[in-house]
Amino acid sequence: MADETITITDNRTGKSVDVPIVNGGIDSGALRSLAPGVWFHDPAFMTTAACSSAITFLDGDAGILRYRGYPIEQLAEQASYLEVAYLLLKGELPDAAQLEQWTHDITYHTFVHENVKKFVDGFHYDAHPMGILASTVAALSTFYPEAKNLNDVACLEKQIVRLVAKMPTLAAFAHRFSVGMPYVYPDNDLPYSANFLSMMWKPRSGGKAYEVDPVLAKALDVLFILHADHEQNCSTTAMRTVGSAHADPYSATAAACSALYGPRHGGANEAVLHMLQDIGTLDNVEPFVQSVKSGSGGRLQGFGHRVYKNYDPRAKLIKRTAEEVFAVTGYNPLLDIALKLEEVALQDEYFVSRKLYPNVDFYSGLIYMALGFPMEMFTVLFAIPRTSGWMAHFMEMLQQESKIARPRQLYIGVDERAYVPLEDR
Ligand code: CMC
Repeated sequence: MADETITITDNRTGKSVDVPIVNGGIDSGALRSLAPGVWFHDPAFMTTAACSSAITFLDGDAGILRYRGYPIEQLAEQASYLEVAYLLLKGELPDAAQLEQWTHDITYHTFVHENVKKFVDGFHYDAHPMGILASTVAALSTFYPEAKNLNDVACLEKQIVRLVAKMPTLAAFAHRFSVGMPYVYPDNDLPYSANFLSMMWKPRSGGKAYEVDPVLAKALDVLFILHADHEQNCSTTAMRTVGSAHADPYSATAAACSALYGPRHGGANEAVLHMLQDIGTLDNVEPFVQSVKSGSGGRLQGFGHRVYKNYDPRAKLIKRTAEEVFAVTGYNPLLDIALKLEEVALQDEYFVSRKLYPNVDFYSGLIYMALGFPMEMFTVLFAIPRTSGWMAHFMEMLQQESKIARPRQLYIGVDERAYVPLEDR
């Protein structure tokens, strides 16, 4: 249609180009041919679609999140994390035989080479588990040098299985090391999330047997589903960028982990818990909200989102999961503070007018805490399921006709000048 174009005019030359709007975007190549040497200036990619993707759909105004077309609510309620990982990676839900094969493959790749334990042993006693995870996943590339062969799809699919399977093992080893406990090997009789809990907590202190509670394993599985992908966020962009240089999937995943490690990305749920602990009592909720509004209390952690201008659909599901978990683990007074905080904020003009709603991090930390995870593990818990999303994007990027990611810059430094010998400076 004629009106589905944008016209760009170079006022220096009077030349114009009509650029069709396709899938909500316009091709930047039009500007390149109209005005060579003029670049879009878009730090933080606020207005740039860096790729086309068929994996995750997100409508922030309407509060919609879908993986491969399936609403997140239906997946969280009816699917398992491994089914969702398959969906993200292959584009379709598995049938029964495919799911059985996939589950078998993942289960039988959960062990890591014994030398990996030696790396973990080499970390300082108080090393952050996220630093350990990023480093050990990078080290895996040296165990599987064939992973460099990005043209061999069968070989790549094997690396995907290894990554999805081994991340929980690396994560649990990182935790066990940090608390001075012996590593627990994977248990191939347990499903994915239950196996992770078993590697984390077995045996209980005092040598008592550890039985995975199915309600808690299911809750963790739901959290894994909700965190599996979120289209072009910072870590996924890192994954695609490093992958575009044709680095192997382990090295690219290590880069994505490093991006996730940043407090602006994977660390907000920890900040929520600190905030709830600082508030301390229900009576302090209203004064705290006032302090946020006046600017003296910082931000309301776990509220607001760059993309969602509505209730984050993941937050709704996590809130429900929190109630199920607390029914097993016992009551946590911080939940009451969180509920009251949400109620007060959602009735307040400051938050309403700015479209600030709870995001995925508002309730997830409370669940992790109830499951017994120390705060340092929260970002690690994000990285485990996000690995399937990262790999789905890595594979999609390879399948598309992609060039190496290489943005331009607007140079604002000094013009040419002559070198000044040291004695003259
Ligand atoms: N508490 C109080 N005010 C807020 C908050 C908040 N949490 N978030 C945004 N605002 C205000 C902000 O002060 C600004 O007000 P004004 O227009 O008067 O200056 C307005 O809302 C717009 O804020 P912004 O900083 O321009 O929004 P942004 O899209 O750049 O930031 C955000 C998004 C997530 C960084 C921000 O909302 C925030 O800092 N939230 C708290 C931290 C948090 O929960 N982070 C987790 C995000 S979800 C992670 C994920 O999906 O992976």
